[in-house]
Amino acid sequence: MTRTAYRARIIHAKNEKEVEDIPDGMLVVDAKGRIESCGDYDPSFQDKVVDLAGRLVIPGLVDVHSHIPQLDERGKHGATLLDWLEHYIFPAERSFADERTVVDVATRFFKKLILNGTTMSGLYSTVHEDATNRCFEIAKASGVRCYIGKVMMDMHSPEGLLETTQDSLKKSERLCSKWHNAEGGRLKYAFTPRFAPTCSLELWKEVAKLSMDSGAYIQSHIAETKDENARVRELFPEFSDYVELFEDTKVLGPRTVLAHAIYLSDGEYRRLAKSGTKIAHCPTSNFFLKSGWMPVSKVEKAGVIYGLGTDVGAGISMSVFTQMRHADFTQLDCTITPVKAFYLATMGGAKVMGMEDEIGNFQKTKFADFNVIDICGVEPRYHLGGLSTDEVLSLLMYRGDGRAIESTYVAGKKICVDF
Ligand code: GUN
Ligand code: ZN
Repeated sequence: MTRTAYRARIIHAKNEKEVEDIPDGMLVVDAKGRIESCGDYDPSFQDKVVDLAGRLVIPGLVDVHSHIPQLDERGKHGATLLDWLEHYIFPAERSFADERTVVDVATRFFKKLILNGTTMSGLYSTVHEDATNRCFEIAKASGVRCYIGKVMMDMHSPEGLLETTQDSLKKSERLCSKWHNAEGGRLKYAFTPRFAPTCSLELWKEVAKLSMDSGAYIQSHIAETKDENARVRELFPEFSDYVELFEDTKVLGPRTVLAHAIYLSDGEYRRLAKSGTKIAHCPTSNFFLKSGWMPVSKVEKAGVIYGLGTDVGAGISMSVFTQMRHADFTQLDCTITPVKAFYLATMGGAKVMGMEDEIGNFQKTKFADFNVIDICGVEPRYHLGGLSTDEVLSLLMYRGDGRAIESTYVAGKKICVDF
């Protein structure tokens, strides 16, 4: 492969307030799939040019939190988080003991990531080691970038999902040594204790050590509902608040991504920020389960870095565009502008994953992870040239879905659903 240039309108986020919009742009990708330059179209360019006239090129979308085994549970209404887990999610996850189910569900899951333009995601498998290996194999074949973790549950868990602490740690450690940084770093491992009500303090402490030793991520859930918080208080009365449990077990840090974080105090948000811990904000899921809404202004005031997560299957949509609009809909005291939502869906997500030097926008030397967008996939009457930057981002945010994604590239390589 030599250099390839993609000629199109290009929009990417420089930071949360600023995007660059290049009407007749050229994204040059080197032989290693990294960005050589991004700027105005240069007619003197000597190597291959892919002409994408009338199309828009944006960075690959980043989904910071989702569950592979929950794909087909989307849209099944449950009274509350804890009921919904019991009724739909635990049975679905138990079915991952069967290899054929894993292959069927995970293959469709990764196809949907591609169809929705998601090039990097933070994923949960189930407690099963074999199923997690299978998920990684499918991720490898699909060409997308992701981290995945075997879910860990060593107490107060239903039959078929409960494991011993030692088993959980051993299996996770084996998976981590096999998959963390596999495929040239495209695949990574995340230690994945489910959430405080199903994990012992010993498990958290050991996970913190494993993450420290391996450089792998930690992902979990925190403060999603008031019932969950009450359960944690009941199980762990020794801690003065929810975040202290994570502090005490040394789980917090820049490679830790905690989903939801709805019911925390200002002080707890500040402590998360200080430790470098990131939040996966999952607005669709939070509204589906009537969990509540993450207070964006408090989170931002405290300085916690956050990105957008679909949280399938409480999230009913695989599209990060859906998260962009719901991120705005769910805030009553602040507005998430199209520029800000676009930043969160790309650069912000990259930051959550500690990959801001590798992906997220079209800065030179980053990986060429990008989507080719046909705005007619949003509405056939639109012509890209007639729309301002804000209008393009606004249409994608409020009306976009996978139909706007014409093609998707990871490290300069087109990825397809027939992998
Ligand atoms: N908390 C613990 N497990 C889960 C899960 O699978 N989904 C959601 N939304 N919250 C959780
Ligand atoms: Zn989740």
